[in-house]
Amino acid sequence: MRPVGILGTGAYLPEKVLTNRDLEKMVDTTDEWIVSRTGIRERRIAAPDQASSDLAVEAARQALEHAGLTAEEIDLIIVATVTPDMAFPATACLVQDRLGAKKAATFDLSAACTGFLYGITTAAQFIATGVYRYALVIGVECLSRILNWEDRNTCVLFGDGAGAAVLGPVEEGYGFLSFELGGDGSGGEQLKLPAGGSRLPASEETVKNKLHTVSMAGREVFKFAVRVIGHCTEEALKKVGMTKDDIDFLIPHQANIRIIDSAIKRFGLTEDKVVINLDRYGNMSSASIPVALNEAVRDGRIKKGDTLVLCGFGGGLTWGAAVMKWARD
Ligand code: UT7
Repeated sequence: MRPVGILGTGAYLPEKVLTNRDLEKMVDTTDEWIVSRTGIRERRIAAPDQASSDLAVEAARQALEHAGLTAEEIDLIIVATVTPDMAFPATACLVQDRLGAKKAATFDLSAACTGFLYGITTAAQFIATGVYRYALVIGVECLSRILNWEDRNTCVLFGDGAGAAVLGPVEEGYGFLSFELGGDGSGGEQLKLPAGGSRLPASEETVKNKLHTVSMAGREVFKFAVRVIGHCTEEALKKVGMTKDDIDFLIPHQANIRIIDSAIKRFGLTEDKVVINLDRYGNMSSASIPVALNEAVRDGRIKKGDTLVLCGFGGGLTWGAAVMKWARD
């Protein structure tokens, strides 16, 4: 198997900032409640004329440039999203066309907040086996389009954004060392977008009842998240004979600072070892991890040889973790 790693990263965040103070004017909430219960201070909202593919293309262009590759060299594009431009064609096809990645195979992947982990795990297999050489994996969401802006339980939590990574061969001893993915469909009801699929097609009734917006059993998902963030990080480390002491950087899904704090406590990490951006962007589902990774790479925190653990969890229910030795200078 050929060693596979990340050759370049990119991100795009829409310009419009929605602060907790802004939300105070929209629903019965306070900045104090949101900050103390979630850690979120503000989030980005896509412009009315921006869809997920627009955000994804910007992030992808940056990642390609960072990797020193052209779009024509990309063999595979995977877009992880729960907010595609349309049910079909896949957002990956729209991105391929805009980038001019003519030879790339294209598909979307639905694993909610674990989407980026599922995406890089999938892409890495194609490269490790020699089927493809370069893959672009994008996590993108326009969650603002599927929120009930009258429901304080959900609308304060999420934001829009895109993060991308170019995967390809790296030198021996670097790149991905292990993957850990999981799912539990029995918890599917806890976090879902009820209507708009084949079960409940769009109708006057579904629109009236706001069934095209996110529904979440917050407390149940919270308990699940605290359990899996620790468990799947440990399992991924165990697969390569590593322990929490080997972690240079933990890059967790950014759903709630209290979930991240539970991992910090469990692993005895100092805060400088954990990449956090949910204060500025909220929960961007599949985009949270690649955007956080891009920030820590671009600001020089992550250096060649560092051991990173990426860990995601969310709707499905799904979870995943990847351990990697950073391969770029
Ligand atoms: O990314 C996918 C994975 N998603 C997650 O991991 C999210 C997991 N869940 C959470 O992060 C938390 O459960 C929430 C942030 C969603 C909620 O926090 P909580 O501490 O679990 O609050 P709660 O659901 O126990 O609600 C406490 C109270 C309730 O009032 P009552 O029933 O006790 O009177 C809520 O109505 O807080 C109320 N509340 C709010 N109050 C002010 C809920 N949302 C708000 C709000 N502002 N925005």
